[in-house]
Amino acid sequence: MDKLQVKQRIAALSEEIRRHNYNYYVLSGPTISDYDFDMLLNELISLEKEFPEFTEPDSPTLHVGGAVTKDFVQVQHRYPMMSLGNTYSEDEILDFAERIRKLIGEGVEYVCELKFDGVAIGLTYRHGRLMQAVTRGDGIQGDDVTTNIRTIRSIPLKLHGSGYPDEFEIRGEIILPHESFEKINLQRAEDGDEPFANPRNAASGSIKMQDSAEVAKRHLDCFLYYLPGSGLPFTTHYESLAAARSWGFKVSEHAARCSTVEEIFEYLETWDRARYELPFDIDGIVIKVNDLRQQEMLGYTAKSPRWAIAYKFKAEQVATRLLSVVFQVGRTGAVTPVANLQPVQLAGTVVKRASLHNADVIASLDLRNGDTVFVEKGGEIIPKIVGVDLDARPAEAPPVVFISNCPECRTPLVRTEGEAAWYCPNESGCPPQIKGKLEHFISRKAMNIDSLGEGKIEILFDNGLVHHCADLYDLTSDQLIGLEKTYGSSDDKREKKISFREKTVTNILNGIEGSKQAGFERVLYALGIRFVGETVAKKLATHFGSVEKLKAAGFAELNEVEEIGEKIATSILAWFSEPLNLGLIDRLRASGLHFEMEASNEILLSNRFEGMTFVVSGVFENFSRDELKKTIELHGGKNVGSVSAKTTYLLAGANMGPEKRKKAEKLGVAIISEADFLGMIEA
Ligand code: IVH
Repeated sequence: MDKLQVKQRIAALSEEIRRHNYNYYVLSGPTISDYDFDMLLNELISLEKEFPEFTEPDSPTLHVGGAVTKDFVQVQHRYPMMSLGNTYSEDEILDFAERIRKLIGEGVEYVCELKFDGVAIGLTYRHGRLMQAVTRGDGIQGDDVTTNIRTIRSIPLKLHGSGYPDEFEIRGEIILPHESFEKINLQRAEDGDEPFANPRNAASGSIKMQDSAEVAKRHLDCFLYYLPGSGLPFTTHYESLAAARSWGFKVSEHAARCSTVEEIFEYLETWDRARYELPFDIDGIVIKVNDLRQQEMLGYTAKSPRWAIAYKFKAEQVATRLLSVVFQVGRTGAVTPVANLQPVQLAGTVVKRASLHNADVIASLDLRNGDTVFVEKGGEIIPKIVGVDLDARPAEAPPVVFISNCPECRTPLVRTEGEAAWYCPNESGCPPQIKGKLEHFISRKAMNIDSLGEGKIEILFDNGLVHHCADLYDLTSDQLIGLEKTYGSSDDKREKKISFREKTVTNILNGIEGSKQAGFERVLYALGIRFVGETVAKKLATHFGSVEKLKAAGFAELNEVEEIGEKIATSILAWFSEPLNLGLIDRLRASGLHFEMEASNEILLSNRFEGMTFVVSGVFENFSRDELKKTIELHGGKNVGSVSAKTTYLLAGANMGPEKRKKAEKLGVAIISEADFLGMIEA
């Protein structure tokens, strides 16, 4: 292909991918298989990599993410982002309609819409291109989250059709569909991270992540519902929704025009029932005056428009009996009280258990054994106990007492100042903690020893063969042959027997042997250091290169790594200060595990920076700090953490610490920008 053909191919691919995104994410009607779509996208990604000069500014590859935002910039809203008056009662809807009838004195038509339970967002388009995405913040100013929002595939980066204003803002809600929410929480459980309580929290956490490639993996979605400002080319709100739809936005099909309060009530009752069938959460309905001229006549109060109101659904509640409270110990040692309930139907499912979260929750409910409790499924996926029916309390019902010793190993529980949870501190002797850590160690994203899954770890543990992950590497075939365990009672149809025959044992030992190939970043993740998930482990491994360097790092050095804040740094320091953990590393190393990054087999791109040392600091426009550091190494240069007289260049991004700059100036170290740096490579 000559250059002109490349340019044309990039343009054609971009257009085609844009169309498929629209069909899939907005219309929910794909016309191409996932495989074929991926082929198109991969072709575009590699062409753009080879010919960056032809990359379109709104390329659909932006949806894949990659850019990193360290600090989100605060931006003032052109039109304040108000919220809506809330009501839970139909009477107040009658009052609302009556008030409007009096003020307007003529017939009023309403539009009823779903009230999406997510995070509000304002998108600004100029000449049909997405320029900026800002969160609500305090309503006056919010965070610029454009880079992250660009990864949402249902949000058009370039508009379709015509007739849109040169510049306009459109508002909507970022939501996380149930399917994505469940996947994220499964993954978090596997990684030992706290699950998100509900899709709204997950969406709100996701749009504030620093690495947009991670945001892309969350599969957020966005419904648009409002164009603020005057002078728009419409006479009604309903028309504006239709126009927005024609420009490529995802606008719900469930908006309905209503001429009477009875029609509004009908809409409300329909969705109060049908909401459980939607693939995402709604928490009510929104009622808006349709005519834009009438909206203008009604105007605003200090907080909200007078032309709209939100009706919030009551969380569905049922009463049932508390049968017992059990206490569970997790991999980290945190003890969670769980209520066993008389099974009861609630919001489309049968509820048998509810989490009581921690001791404070039990105390504030003043919970007694045998109580009749009210269970609610609000925004949270796990039902919660919201109250006790005091009239139904049996006489002299004994209070539910939070245990003071671990239910598994009897060790007295401890509670850290300021934390809600009680912990079992017996990390190396408490069975669920040991088994949990071992299960984490062998899990797919860690050492990936799948021949050991499904209860086999439990058999090894029960037979006293493994206690620490390092014990796995000492196992022999003789120890394993013949071990067995039966799960479930003999009259249970689901009874399952696991026995270690020769083939199983060979598989297990091969799996363990094979895991020795895992790179340092996986080993680091597998160790199960609190708050060191997969991404953090990768960042640490690349940054420090070896466990020795990581172990020697102090708080400030750790804190300097992308994504590592105070909480993670403190946890890493605590882990390495434990002699038992250091012994573990020695044993694993002796077994042949990698505690250093593999010597890079990448060929140097040039030796332009040979003998030079760089300090990379701040936030950059086109590359993450790690990408820049990698580039320096690929050109023969060296990276160091702090400026000294030996430093050749300080590569300075935005928001760089003033101390570094001062020091470089004092020592006469050249300070260069991202553009200078790119120029040096291209030269
Ligand atoms: S209209 C000035 N429509 O609910 C009014 N808001 O509690 C602009 N929301 O601030 C908002 N679904 O974040 C509107 N169909 C919908 C909505 C909706 C959800 C959110 C939005 C709003 C909040 C009010």
